[in-house]
Amino acid sequence: MSLSANMNIMKKAARKAGRSLVKDFREVENLQVSMKGAGDFVSRADVAAEEIIKSELMDARPTYGWVGEEGGAETGSDPTRRWIVDPLDGTTNFLHGLPHWAVSIALEHKGQIIAGVIYDPAKDEMFFAEKGEGAWMNETRIRVSGRGRMIESIFATGVPFGGRSDLPATLQDLARLMPACAGVRRFGSAALDLAYVAAGRYEGFWERRLNAWDMAAGIVILREAGGFVEPLVPGEDILSSGEIIGSNEVIFDQFSKVIRNR
Ligand code: IPD
Ligand code: CA
Ligand code: CA
Repeated sequence: MSLSANMNIMKKAARKAGRSLVKDFREVENLQVSMKGAGDFVSRADVAAEEIIKSELMDARPTYGWVGEEGGAETGSDPTRRWIVDPLDGTTNFLHGLPHWAVSIALEHKGQIIAGVIYDPAKDEMFFAEKGEGAWMNETRIRVSGRGRMIESIFATGVPFGGRSDLPATLQDLARLMPACAGVRRFGSAALDLAYVAAGRYEGFWERRLNAWDMAAGIVILREAGGFVEPLVPGEDILSSGEIIGSNEVIFDQFSKVIRNR
């Protein structure tokens, strides 16, 4: 595999932030006993990881724009390119000592995501893709699964929490989907959900009310792994609507019919 200079920069930044987060994650596991200040500690870990990523990426590419979950948005002197970054996707897992969270870094060019990295430091799994170059996990090329029967397929989603208004819609989705498939997972990291569909670990994923940084890297990785990704409501823009559906190519029609209730 031959990596572009940008991909090398992205992977290096993800690893560096990952090392910092792993150190803090060990600390969080200790804090579980007392519970005191765990939330603030995690917020600081999150911000520190974003600062590491931002300085790595912006030092290497000072003309690009930036949007990060913790640090807001900046337009670069090159308005056609910007980094889209979630330093810690799966914060609730991290806070509870659950080792399922990731760093997500995407590069957008003229409104299209052209490269993405999702790094899960706890498992040392680096998912990445560049447009036209295929998708990878560490040294291995990845592809979506070939399962085409709903009843044999596993799907993932995010179930709204904390009184969010989209809960009824998701519960209705689940009521239609669960009897028709082999299981639904809610692992708590949208970025890893997309990467797992790309790696063929589950067949599809959908979620409402996401932000661009939750999805951007996963979109290019899933497409490069041979998957289909669409806005949940056809015709909308995925990143601005925050509503996404993606799966392997063979099951997409069946899966999207159930979720879109057609
Ligand atoms: C969250 C995760 C989760 C999804 C939430 C996101 P965060 O991101 O991706 O799976 O269901 O909607 O906000 O807050 O952990 O970066
Ligand atoms: Ca996120
Ligand atoms: Ca986050």
